[in-house]
Amino acid sequence: MNTFDSERAPHAETVFTYGSPALKFGAGAADEIGYDLAQLGVTRVLVVTDAGVAATGNPQRVAEAMGRFGIDAQTYDGVHVEPTDVSLREAIEHARENGPFDAYVAVGGGSSIDTAKAINLLTTNPGELMDYINAPVGKARAPVNPLKPLVAVPTTTGTGSESTTICVLDVLALKVKTGISHPRLRPTLAVVDPALTLTQPAGVTASSGMDILCHALESYTARPYTSYDRKAPEQRVPYCGANPVSDMWSERALGLMARSFVPAVRGQAADELAVRTDMALAATFAGLGFGNAGVHIPHANAYPIAGRVKDFHPDGYPVHEPMVPHGMSVALTAPEAFRFTFEAQPERHVRAAQLLAPDLDRPTDDAEYLPAALQKVMRDVGMPNGVGGVGYHEGDIPDLVDGTMKQQRLLATAPRPVTEDDIAGIYRRSINLW
Ligand SMILES: NC(=O)c1ccc[n+]([C@@H]2O[C@H](COP(=O)([O-])OP(=O)(O)OC[C@H]3O[C@@H](n4cnc5c(N)ncnc54)[C@H](O)[C@@H]3O)[C@@H](O)[C@H]2O)c1
Ligand SMILES: [Zn+2]
Repeated sequence: MNTFDSERAPHAETVFTYGSPALKFGAGAADEIGYDLAQLGVTRVLVVTDAGVAATGNPQRVAEAMGRFGIDAQTYDGVHVEPTDVSLREAIEHARENGPFDAYVAVGGGSSIDTAKAINLLTTNPGELMDYINAPVGKARAPVNPLKPLVAVPTTTGTGSESTTICVLDVLALKVKTGISHPRLRPTLAVVDPALTLTQPAGVTASSGMDILCHALESYTARPYTSYDRKAPEQRVPYCGANPVSDMWSERALGLMARSFVPAVRGQAADELAVRTDMALAATFAGLGFGNAGVHIPHANAYPIAGRVKDFHPDGYPVHEPMVPHGMSVALTAPEAFRFTFEAQPERHVRAAQLLAPDLDRPTDDAEYLPAALQKVMRDVGMPNGVGGVGYHEGDIPDLVDGTMKQQRLLATAPRPVTEDDIAGIYRRSINLW
């Protein structure tokens, strides 16, 4: 029984949905993309990546491998790490000038995959970026035309963007992070090749791993789908609340993270590929879970924490501009967010803590269990100590709360109603976590 079940509406939802791309998983999978695209009759491809990933040589290798199947593959390495409206427009412009392409292949982290989603949308459909961005920032238009095949090849172990229907971006003039969300943005094929993730810097493995953890934990503790009012078919959205299928993915992701997250960050595992394979599976599992259930308070807080960054420069990321990486920005308020949501579904919070930190002693107060498990992981992988650790002070809280409250789409997935005061309290207690 939880807060929403006990208030079950007379016309409660009885239906949940599950969507996913086709998946090819395992070391060497990226070499087969040319074959897969040739089956679709594709001959001209744009490979989308960023400069850091391009420096590993992997995008070029993937492009060359496609050549063996008669595919002409060009590479665009201009992706901005954590895309902005400006960077997306540049990428779309590049594709419009150099196209037409009959498929896109994103090789990189969430930044490259999300950029490829935007390119695909705006080279197949009329209008401009702002037409499709979520309201109230944009016009939230739906695409009228089908998109081209998009193959997503993640090189981080994190976002799960290869499975999801969203593209996240920073609208620079408004200092707000938002997204484009539509089922047609979901990649056609996810090619998850753990061998491509071995070169991730430790700081990237740590932040993107915290993203995996929060995807799993937030979708596992999300409002259950049965707590919503019954929708008409045309009202259904990709995020339908926690459900038996997403629960299964989230639980399995937590178990893999418990085993392999810290060894992956420390780079001391005897079998590095095995550890990275666990992380890649966990990222995929969590993506398949949250991509259908949804995420809530930690992700809603992450948007202003990242969007209003002052002068923080994390290890492992490009140095020319300040940033709080997505996974880090999600993690910083997560322990306090789960302390707040505990009362809505105590047994799920306890189960999640047991999966995530099987060796941790169970505290006398169960509400402390998941926050303690998360903080232990955060310390082990070198996360900053709360929002204070990335430069925010007590005086910044009203501004941060304001940014969070704009993310109503995410807050609506929290397992209990959330007020401005609740969010302010979560930030206040997250200035220093330990
Ligand atoms: N669409 C979604 O469903 C979704 C979900 C969560 C996050 N996101 C978004 O994804 C972005 C974050 O993506 P991310 O965490 O995967 O990282 P990223 O794509 O931003 O990359 C982070 C850094 O790691 C480098 N890098 C990536 N893979 C590497 C490799 N194998 N070897 C060496 N360097 C490598 C990149 O060059 C970059 O400097 C954010 O914009 C976030 O908002 C999207
Ligand atoms: Zn995320």
